[in-house]
Amino acid sequence: MRRVITYGTFDTLHYGHIRLLKRARALGDYLIVALSSDAFNAEKGKKAKFSFEDRKTDLEALKYVDLIIEENTWDQKSTDVQAHDIDVFTIGDDWTGEFDFLKEHCDVVYMPRTPEISSTLIRGRAAG
Ligand code: CTP
Repeated sequence: MRRVITYGTFDTLHYGHIRLLKRARALGDYLIVALSSDAFNAEKGKKAKFSFEDRKTDLEALKYVDLIIEENTWDQKSTDVQAHDIDVFTIGDDWTGEFDFLKEHCDVVYMPRTPEISSTLIRGRAAG
């Protein structure tokens, strides 16, 4: 059983997210999504349109997602990777290099983002 983890806000769930999650799941047999809490988003300066509970409801419906945990701090990744016996950490290539310190515990894979779609874009469209 190869266990994979990824992190993010996943606000206004879109096909860029879905493609990321599909490829993440294909790196192993079990995918954990660490979903940013509302408080953590505030700390990051990110204002999500939907609450943690609503974003979690979206992710729970996806066949690629096996477990959702809460992301509350920048520092929890090493602890999560060890606590959940993770083989692969993955995230979009907008983060390339940022999490190489996890290579001490697991594989680290940066995946190409899907072009021309983002939560920011959708939030902008919704407001316009
Ligand atoms: N992602 C992706 N392709 C996109 C958008 C996001 O592969 N077009 C990936 C990100 O690289 C990350 C995950 O999806 O691994 C969650 O990204 P998140 O920041 O929640 O989504 P964005 O749409 O980028 O949100 P924002 O515009 O608020 O930054």
